Amino acid sequence: MAKRTEVTDERAPRAVDAAVQGEEVRFERSLRPKTLDDYIGQTKHKDNLRVFVEASRRRGEPLDHLLLSGPPGLGKTTLAQILAHEMGVELHMTNGPVVEHKGALAGLLTKLGKNDILFIDEIHRLNPVVEESLYPAMEDFRIDVMTGDGAFASSIQIPVQPFTLIGATTRTGLLTAPLHSRFGQIIRLDFYPVEDLARIVERSASLLGVEVAKAASLAIAARARGTPRIANRLLRRVRDFAEVIGTGKIDEAIVAKSCDRLDIDSAGFDEMDRRLLRVIIVDYDGGPVGVETLAAALGEPRDTIEDVYEPYLLQQGYLGRTTRGRVATRKAYEHLRVPFAGAVLAKQKELFDE
Ligand code: ADE
Repeated sequence: MAKRTEVTDERAPRAVDAAVQGEEVRFERSLRPKTLDDYIGQTKHKDNLRVFVEASRRRGEPLDHLLLSGPPGLGKTTLAQILAHEMGVELHMTNGPVVEHKGALAGLLTKLGKNDILFIDEIHRLNPVVEESLYPAMEDFRIDVMTGDGAFASSIQIPVQPFTLIGATTRTGLLTAPLHSRFGQIIRLDFYPVEDLARIVERSASLLGVEVAKAASLAIAARARGTPRIANRLLRRVRDFAEVIGTGKIDEAIVAKSCDRLDIDSAGFDEMDRRLLRVIIVDYDGGPVGVETLAAALGEPRDTIEDVYEPYLLQQGYLGRTTRGRVATRKAYEHLRVPFAGAVLAKQKELFDE
């Protein structure tokens, strides 16, 4: 339970973000693959899911409850939609903090048809009381409702249809142990390799009816931080530049020009990524810096830093995590063209050896 308190409530989008998100959501929806065959990448998970779908369909049973984890934009919602499609069932979508009380959850559960999928995004942000009432639903397809007060209180059980819960979370570590243990399958989505992202860009470009050269799709993919949502967003921006200041076709030159105008560098980092690394390197001599200190210095909520910015920097080896906080690696110094002094190396050796 203790981990839940780490999650702050500060991530309500600002008005401008909401507008941008609205446009992005519409765009993303139009490009979303509908079947496992259309879904590019994550091959191992995809192949396993194909087996589980086939087995469940043959038995006429729901899929086992599934927990999807990973940084934003890797396709958790898309996978839930695909699974509903492949199972031939309805998908009911909600979000952890939106399910405010047990009654709201009961309302959702009693609407489910046989073998339907209930998708709860940000499942780690469920209210603890609601979470607890989810357990009997997951285990025995029933909800327990209390009636009466005091000495007259008793519990009645309401059956619900067999269903699949798909929970999505940015980090599995944020889930309580009882909830985590009730999922039959746990899939951690990884960042996509550049080749897969390039194929996603090509597929999206073809759906949008825009021509993209192979080198250009690779250039977009290389700057997409391993994330299909970012690749598609960048494609949309590059398409704007290509149409207004270019020939309408997307080639390597227009990708480079667009990225330059958007302040996206060769590693795909934006201003925020670079600020994060610069704060550690310049203001804190390379670290270690605690995440709270970083959050204060950057004016961003702690969980945005942990969920959105850090994972890719860590995975790519620009950041390191020690018991005392984050450190910038030699690769980060080289990227920002700051000399990596021997003193820093000695300090980091000591930290990593701790
Ligand atoms: N669009 C976003 N993610 C995708 C994926 N994994 N495959 C195909 N198209 C996508």
